[in-house]
Amino acid sequence: MNPTEILLQYYNPGDDLFAILLIHSRMVAAKALNIARRKGLDVDLDFVYEAAMLHDIGIIHTDAPGIHCHGSEPYIRHGVMGADMLRHLGLYRHALVCERHTGAGITRQQIKDNSLPLDQKDYLPISTEEKLICYADKYYSKSGSLIHEKPYERILKSMEKFGSENVTRFLQLHEMFS
Ligand SMILES: [Fe+2]
Repeated sequence: MNPTEILLQYYNPGDDLFAILLIHSRMVAAKALNIARRKGLDVDLDFVYEAAMLHDIGIIHTDAPGIHCHGSEPYIRHGVMGADMLRHLGLYRHALVCERHTGAGITRQQIKDNSLPLDQKDYLPISTEEKLICYADKYYSKSGSLIHEKPYERILKSMEKFGSENVTRFLQLHEMFS
């Protein structure tokens, strides 16, 4: 499967949005594969590459003009939107990466407490591949510099905004993959 061809079913190759998505996804895929090889993780490397390339496919449906997304959905729904798109293509395992990669995962309780526009269920990365892509994604932005890794301290700070349990989950991922 060629994930870039799948992206091109929804994105125009000349658009700024596609350029941002492609660079971001490649950076995340490279970091995830690097970690997998360095740590000798027992993961499906082809799947890690494909799912990392597709994890943000849903951003096209969101309202985030700063990164050239002109849809109507709140940005936090990009994971579930992407998961729907991939399920339509029969990519059920890849779809789970989409809906479980936001933040350090999102719990049913966080959704309830913060009235987030998501179904009330847990969206936590479960498989090693899901956790790895979720972790690698935290190091790259889609605004500002796309190619420079965020410093670990900055990622931690951004996790704090969503509460201490997010920090704890990120630290668990860091423990696994750093
Ligand atoms: Fe991402």
